[in-house]
Amino acid sequence: MAEVTVNPWRKDFPILAQTMNGKRLAFLDSGASAQKPQCVIDTMTQIYQTHYSNIHRGLYEFSQILTGEFEAARNKVADFIKAPSPRSIIFTRNSTESINLVAQSWGRTFLSAGDEIILTEMEHHANFVPWHILKNQIGIVIKYIPVLEDGSLDLTALQNLLTDKTRLVALTHVSNVLGTVNPVEDIIKTVRSHADHIKVLIDGSQAVVHGAVDVAALDADFYVFTGHKLYAPTGVGVLYGRESLLEKMPPWQGGGDMIEKVTLDGVTYAELPNKFEAGTPAIVEVIGLGTAIDYVSKIGLAQISKWEHELLVYATKKLLQIKGLKILGTTKNKAGIISFTVEGCPASDLAMILDQMGVAVRSGHHCCQPLMGVLGVEGTIRASIGLYTDKDDIDQLIAGIIKAKMMLT
Ligand code: ALA
Repeated sequence: MAEVTVNPWRKDFPILAQTMNGKRLAFLDSGASAQKPQCVIDTMTQIYQTHYSNIHRGLYEFSQILTGEFEAARNKVADFIKAPSPRSIIFTRNSTESINLVAQSWGRTFLSAGDEIILTEMEHHANFVPWHILKNQIGIVIKYIPVLEDGSLDLTALQNLLTDKTRLVALTHVSNVLGTVNPVEDIIKTVRSHADHIKVLIDGSQAVVHGAVDVAALDADFYVFTGHKLYAPTGVGVLYGRESLLEKMPPWQGGGDMIEKVTLDGVTYAELPNKFEAGTPAIVEVIGLGTAIDYVSKIGLAQISKWEHELLVYATKKLLQIKGLKILGTTKNKAGIISFTVEGCPASDLAMILDQMGVAVRSGHHCCQPLMGVLGVEGTIRASIGLYTDKDDIDQLIAGIIKAKMMLT
């Protein structure tokens, strides 16, 4: 294994120099939200200090400059996921809002009672609840690709789930609980070979941070992700949609900045992408996302992925040496997310003891209650790796679990 002790990027994240409960901070909750590099913080501070204003509206210098920076961020996002055009990039608040937009705009317009959609048992509530709302509104049928013992999807079942009523397959690229990297390219090919008209939505929230994504090569109809897990600010998410589809979809929310003309008798709408961006957006956060993309692109996702994989292998080996510890999600193709249970130690108690030792992890159902039911657990502890994670963080986690186990059992 290559050397994973000295992390060259850790110094870029000022918060990591802090202590937590008087201990060195081992931040292992990047899957929930990642820390921000100094360059992102500087971008946002500089805008507020020098040329903050509203965009798309002012003819004065500050507004013109900021509008240019906002649209440049859209171009960066398009390049980052290899979208064919910035017109296909819609800024939302987060992945959740992106999926709600698709469900309410595309779903309510193009689906009707009895139409079938296929999700998986490992979806985050963000890719569950919007479809259940739609089911209650119009009577669609929801089916699920099962999760196998090792945390992979049962893809032989997909063949049987696809019928002549299937209209959509929506699934996560990387499981936020199991770390499983789903073979979305193969899944899309399977769906396309069944019927061309079936749409595919991929939730890339946990994927874009761990590896390069090419939506054009994937041939996805919709691809969503959130900024805050990608070292960018909160409050900004992305919906990529195939342009021809977005063109046909009606606006979801109405308001300023999404119109062409408003009269007392009616409204015509702006062109893409503005049609889907009602109201003042998270201007500074969007530009912060652009800086975060510059930052990770400069390091290179291949490099980040390699670093994180080495830590994943190291952490997995160390964790499995702890008696009574069980890792959920053991497929080969995993991102830097490890969920586990420890016999005799309730997840929340363990997480609270780890907190006292400076270790930040997430515990509970991870917004995946259906998956917890399938796995037969109440909840898990989850350690998630970011580009700034180092071997000391993992060692601190291991020492913390051993100590907590002595206290709890
Ligand atoms: N979706 C985030 C997580 O998995 C909040 O923790």
